[in-house]
Amino acid sequence: MAAPGGSLKIAAMTTSSSSQNAAGASALPRIAVLATGGTIAGSAPDAANTAGYQAGVIGVAQLLAAVPGLDAVAQIHAEEVASVDSKDMSFALWATLAQRVNALLASDDIDGVVITHGTDTLEETAYLLHLTVKSAKPVILTAAMRPASALSADGPLNLLNAVTVAASGQAGGQGVLVAFNNRMHCARDVAKISTYAVDAFQSPEIGALGWVQDGRVDFQRRALRPHTLDTPFAVVDETAAQWPQVEIVTSYAGVSRIAVDALVSAGVRGIVVAGTGNGSIHATLQQALADAAAQGVAVVRASRVGSGHVMHNGAAKDDALGFISAGTLSPYKARVLLMLALATGSTQKDALQRVFDTY
Ligand code: SIN
Repeated sequence: MAAPGGSLKIAAMTTSSSSQNAAGASALPRIAVLATGGTIAGSAPDAANTAGYQAGVIGVAQLLAAVPGLDAVAQIHAEEVASVDSKDMSFALWATLAQRVNALLASDDIDGVVITHGTDTLEETAYLLHLTVKSAKPVILTAAMRPASALSADGPLNLLNAVTVAASGQAGGQGVLVAFNNRMHCARDVAKISTYAVDAFQSPEIGALGWVQDGRVDFQRRALRPHTLDTPFAVVDETAAQWPQVEIVTSYAGVSRIAVDALVSAGVRGIVVAGTGNGSIHATLQQALADAAAQGVAVVRASRVGSGHVMHNGAAKDDALGFISAGTLSPYKARVLLMLALATGSTQKDALQRVFDTY
């Protein structure tokens, strides 16, 4: 799946809310739908094709037109922020998206934002926004596993449910949520867990926040960690140069120290290690990472398992080795948090550990 020319189309179109003629539309919540591409906007020549398609080629107007009943749920303001395959997500697009979400939510004319996104990096974007949006209004990400052209495409119902959650009056103050396959997840917890299944997102170990079905929104619990207005993090810059360079390495049988040494030589600010089990690290890699930490690189120990937590001073003696433990964050989300923390100027190991213990 190639990104469409790799290009970004910024704020290309707007659907006027006045074009919605449903009775009482002006009393409905005003929800901005920001399209960024992905399979939800994907198309294949054959309706039976659910793998060999092009992501991010269908415009936001067509996405919305495929959702019957949307105008009875909310007044929609639509923008096409980008049309990318989310495997190609960039710092520039993250910054554009975060700034647009913050600007829309600061307006009295918008009650919430829904973002359509590719599934592949959705969990990273969701967590980035969870930490950097400065509003208590709802922000809901959604996506699809089947392209818009497919038999039984899942995008239209996911989009309807996401708008329903955003318009429900119940999603405010909960940070960024992901609405997918009738479930609502906290951005911090959610992960893509299947390469093909329609039920592709879970919050491993912790579980979903609730359900959305047939217009009903049913939250069962709330996430406790601080987010949005209660973090010191912000995304302000659109250039890659301003983002602290943080990379991810993995521990596995027979791993060498080549990658870590190369990263340190390249001048990275941080390394997240996806360890085995409870974040245990092969002795060779662990020595390379301890050497990196001794040279001032922030080393965060996470797990490649995909569920559970990494205990501080557990499978590796973090304090002695100069490491930070990621707790329940996946390696990909640990990287997001480490970049944001380093961008605030926080470099001292204990301060960074407090960041990981808090957010
Ligand atoms: C993407 O992440 O943009 C493509 C895959 C998907 O949306 O399922």
